Amino acid sequence: MLKDEDRIFRNLYGFEDWGLKGAKKRGAWRGTKKLLEKGRDWIIEEIKASGLRGRGGAGFPTGLKWSFMPKESDGRPHYLVVNADESEPGTCKDREIMRHDPHLLIEGSLIASFAMGAHVGYIYIRGEFIHERERLQAAIDEAYDAKLIGKNNVHGYDFDLYLHHGAGAYICGEETALLESLEGKKGQPRLKPPFPANAGLYGAPTTVNNVESIAVAPDILRRGASWFAGLGRPNNTGTKLFCISGHVNRPCNVEEEMGITLKELLERHAGGVRGGWENLLAVIPGGSSVRCLPQDCCQSLNMDFDSLAALKSGLGTAAVIVMDKSTDIIRAIARLSYFYKHESCGQCTPCREGTGWMYRVLDRMARGEAEKREIDMLLEVTYQVEGHTICALGDAAAWPVQGLITHFRHVIEERIDQYSANPKPEGAVREPAAAE
Ligand SMILES: Cc1cc2nc3c(=O)[nH]c(=O)nc-3n(C[C@H](O)[C@H](O)[C@H](O)COP(=O)(O)O)c2cc1C
Ligand code: SF4
Repeated sequence: MLKDEDRIFRNLYGFEDWGLKGAKKRGAWRGTKKLLEKGRDWIIEEIKASGLRGRGGAGFPTGLKWSFMPKESDGRPHYLVVNADESEPGTCKDREIMRHDPHLLIEGSLIASFAMGAHVGYIYIRGEFIHERERLQAAIDEAYDAKLIGKNNVHGYDFDLYLHHGAGAYICGEETALLESLEGKKGQPRLKPPFPANAGLYGAPTTVNNVESIAVAPDILRRGASWFAGLGRPNNTGTKLFCISGHVNRPCNVEEEMGITLKELLERHAGGVRGGWENLLAVIPGGSSVRCLPQDCCQSLNMDFDSLAALKSGLGTAAVIVMDKSTDIIRAIARLSYFYKHESCGQCTPCREGTGWMYRVLDRMARGEAEKREIDMLLEVTYQVEGHTICALGDAAAWPVQGLITHFRHVIEERIDQYSANPKPEGAVREPAAAE
């Protein structure tokens, strides 16, 4: 279990003052100038040595990403863009950072921008986060007033930070769709390459990072890379915010050590599975975009990138969605499929057509109104979508369905058998399929 002194987010629950005074009391903005004086290369090397991997879902090493930015400007500005779109179902951690500890994010933005030669940063915040936007803007204003950021600030590095709000589209969390949206265009992902580090916002070198990735950077530098690297296990280091929802007794957000077992995470922090551990049916361990895992995979499951990847699932955003045995797992995954169908931007045929196709088949399967041969047909369609699209939304739509078929094929078959034995029970009213 994470020791209190190793916690980075000391006001996660908002019990203390979120403002500058409170943040400084908790250690934010302490020695920031000294950190900058150590130079860009030192900062990037420390972040690399800490083992920090991006907290936005893909787990790409943060220091390495920062090192992709050109060392010198060719005349174009460099930009940092903070991804605060947080729309992954089950995920609600960046929101808590922004409303309860916003100065960690602002300080992290200054440091990351300095390391990458950016004098301007943008935070792209989810449109529905109105309260969080107001709070974060108030904190940014405080930082300007105290001359912590802005022109001629006390840190000796000019830096402007702008908060931009989206309009509530899941796809605008994908980094290149986010950049399009920030430029005032329709939020549709770009083809890569070129990658943002070469041609990002307004065609200039840009790094996009998740809120949590940026907010942990100041503490890593203050306490030292080896402190962070000493938590968790190799390649899966540090502390992590977990969002626990679904069938647990006390759903919560909690900062824990990377690699904690699922059982300990749920029992220590969320009051355990509703009805006890034996009542667990499955978890989706990393937000809705990863494959679910049935109870027998969960006994001694470590919650980190590599352990979950080994099971063909993923840590994703570390949003743990718990489902007990009362769950209709086919209906649950069908509901997620509906989400992806709704959020597909429509640029690529496999995603545009495939998401709707998968949803419609799953909707029938949830009623048992299908044939068993369609299970493999559905699986085949997920493979046609996976890896064949411009952005990872296609994969995100395919993986939950693959997880369902891998682990719960028998439930689908039983549902089909039940329906075939009694297709139209007396008085049954057929559920209409959701509108296209
Ligand atoms: C459909 C889709 C939605 C995404 N939504 C988010 C999001 O809300 N927040 C986020 O940080 N990353 C999101 N990502 C991942 C980003 O594209 C990007 O990898 C991330 O912001 C990089 O930050 P990191 O390296 O700090 O993790 C999304 C990706 C996809 C494909
Ligand atoms: S995969 Fe889907 S969401 Fe991503 S670009 Fe293609 S159509 Fe749009």
